[in-house]
Amino acid sequence: MLIHVLGSGAGGGFPQWNCNCHNCNRLRKGNFKGQARTQSSIAASTNGTDWVLFNASPDILGQLQHFPAIQPGRALRDTGIRGIVLLDSQIDHTTGLLMLREHHRPLDIYCTESVHQDLTTGNPLFKVLEHYCTVNWHPLQLPQGDAPGEGFQVEGIEGLRLTPVPLRSEAPPYSPHRHNYHVGDTIGLWLEDPATQKSLFYAPGLGQIEDHVLSLMEKADCLLIDGTFWTEDEMERAGITQKRATEMGHLPQSGQGGMISVLAPLTSPWKILIHINNTNPILDEESLERAQLEAAGIEVAFDGMDIIL
Ligand code: MLT
Ligand code: MN
Ligand code: ZN
Repeated sequence: MLIHVLGSGAGGGFPQWNCNCHNCNRLRKGNFKGQARTQSSIAASTNGTDWVLFNASPDILGQLQHFPAIQPGRALRDTGIRGIVLLDSQIDHTTGLLMLREHHRPLDIYCTESVHQDLTTGNPLFKVLEHYCTVNWHPLQLPQGDAPGEGFQVEGIEGLRLTPVPLRSEAPPYSPHRHNYHVGDTIGLWLEDPATQKSLFYAPGLGQIEDHVLSLMEKADCLLIDGTFWTEDEMERAGITQKRATEMGHLPQSGQGGMISVLAPLTSPWKILIHINNTNPILDEESLERAQLEAAGIEVAFDGMDIIL
């Protein structure tokens, strides 16, 4: 399978338009060793022409322009996008759908009932799209509890098997499920390519390492997982907001029980962090925190990164 990282930043991207934190400020002034990042989304393919998107970021138009393989140019109106899987209903993962409204047929969108509910009420993108290309919703089934849902395939993406994995993270502020967890508010995706027998676990919003999540992480060939914050109180320390990482549904990297310690005993997977917030010191390639990650064998996704499995 081919994975292309369209965007690797968290909500707001890097630099964030109104932010003058230690990272954003230095990047703007050209005094920073590290890259700008758009808001997180990836594309997957098995043939290099037909792609499934995972989330649709508000930065999608620029992301597609920087990725010529997704525009095969076979007709006056064309795209290599065969379907879109939404992992939650957050603004940074969904509002790019509006930018795809010129599609010449309904958008094939795969998401849970809970995400569908938010996208027809609090964040009514599907309602808006009814006036344009419309949406062909493919419901993702999840049993109650923590068992993975049924595996599915996106039409046109030959072979790639996708399985939704329920995650305890956080529904967005406009959701009736905010601070009131329901199965399906946030999912991760287990991707398997039978042709290569390789697997990837994609989870940009990972609030807790539940047992079923850990078992998947142990057997994955590649992990592309939540790298939002370095510390639990990172936003507070930066003087931005008192919201804590776990309150927002993100497990920080440092500290006891943090992502670095969770990943340490896992010997087989390729470990990559994605959905990096602009306040996170790991964005600075010369930081001690980035050196700590490197020493732990953990990479940081960047816009345009290709992962071949
Ligand atoms: C999050 O990941 O917690 C959200 O995307 C934050 C936001 O975009 O407001
Ligand atoms: Mn986000
Ligand atoms: Zn910033």
